[in-house]
Amino acid sequence: MHAYPHGHVFYRRLTKRLPRIVRGEGCWLEDADGKRYLDACGGAFVACLGHGNAEIADAMAEQARRVAYVNGTMFTTEPVETLARELAATLPGDLDHLYFLSSGSEAVEAALKLARQYWVERGQPEKRKILALSAAYHGNTLLALSASAREHYKTYFRDWMVDVVRVPVPCFRCVCRGEDSTCPTCSGTALEAAIERVGPESVAAFIAEPVGGSSTGAAVPRGEYFRTVRDICDRHDVLFIADEVLCGAGRTGTWWAIEPFGVTPDLMTLGKGIAAGYAPLSAVAAPRRIVDVIARGSGALLHAQTFSFHPVACAAGLATVRYLGSHRLVERCAELGTRFQEQLAGLAGLPHVGAVRGRGLLAGIEFVEDTNTGVPFPRTVKFAETFTEQALAAGLVVWPNTGHVDGTRGDLVMLAPPYIVTTSELDEIVTRFAAALDRTLAALPVAVR
Ligand SMILES: Cc1ncc(COP(=O)(O)O)c(C=O)c1O
Repeated sequence: MHAYPHGHVFYRRLTKRLPRIVRGEGCWLEDADGKRYLDACGGAFVACLGHGNAEIADAMAEQARRVAYVNGTMFTTEPVETLARELAATLPGDLDHLYFLSSGSEAVEAALKLARQYWVERGQPEKRKILALSAAYHGNTLLALSASAREHYKTYFRDWMVDVVRVPVPCFRCVCRGEDSTCPTCSGTALEAAIERVGPESVAAFIAEPVGGSSTGAAVPRGEYFRTVRDICDRHDVLFIADEVLCGAGRTGTWWAIEPFGVTPDLMTLGKGIAAGYAPLSAVAAPRRIVDVIARGSGALLHAQTFSFHPVACAAGLATVRYLGSHRLVERCAELGTRFQEQLAGLAGLPHVGAVRGRGLLAGIEFVEDTNTGVPFPRTVKFAETFTEQALAAGLVVWPNTGHVDGTRGDLVMLAPPYIVTTSELDEIVTRFAAALDRTLAALPVAVR
């Protein structure tokens, strides 16, 4: 076990003891003491091919031997060109140009800057406002954090935030339960009200996750939601940015989570699964009609980063995209996803399970104090954290989230197993999940059990 202040690492959690992972294979991780963990969330929704994939490792090593790094302002490389072409072939509509970065936050920053720069260079400099859903998460750098509705992440930085207009998130803790086609929140018409309130002439972009991540426990909007959004954005000259950093790359059973909604966003952000965790890789996808405006104007997106268009990261991305295709893993994700969601729906009867949401191999299980009213646990109970610790003790890795109800309260955990997961491993995830819940309840103060 490792813990601050022993050693020289400034850990992400300074009060926790961390096992040291020495190897991974498939859905399993092994620590230095030989303990094995079933990775049911791919770290942070990243390891979609599982651990220890030799094909991806070989592709990276080969590229590192050829040329590991050149700067994207001076040169291009084979993996950058090929990955852009092969990713473009998977993307919806006219999204066929890719700008590669490292993290999801960087991709969101770049997409929002691109939206702003596009309007200025098109001669509409008054279009500067950003609209985003609440709850939502789009990253942790300052513009991406401004677009996120994660109040506790902003605690010390509010003075540095950009104002972002909030629109209520669909099909998440709504009184209509996502069942009322006339509900402004769940049908999408709340977006129009927000645009009209702030003035369409001042709005640059609306950013949303097609399927929610951890801030909504994988909430899936109603089928018509993004058609309504598309129509509203078109009528008001607002760019629609789909943030697929978490839900994309096959995770929900289609290459891109927006696909079943039948619309094409103006811009899309990709990350996490596109290189399966073998390298940090993200991207902004844009159509020619937008890139051409910059090409004819200033000639460059004003977003410089040393490690953009990184050849080894793009080699990892290319090998991942090819592996997903050649092993039909997106289709597998859809098939297993149907089974997985049915299995998880069975957890809804367990104590304190308030909701189970998701699509494909992405799921969120929300815990509440009272399942009849949906009232969350007091934050002092630390339900999600306790559950996650108990799950880890039981050899199951899950992703916790807190604060989604009101910025403070709210407990849920996310599951996002690798697409290579077997049906017996899915069964094992469900079994260990139920065991972790038992252990959590036993560890809770009697008054809230
Ligand atoms: C939807 C979404 N967008 C952006 C990000 C930011 O990505 P990163 O943590 O790689 O910066 C995340 C991270 O979880 C995310 O879920």
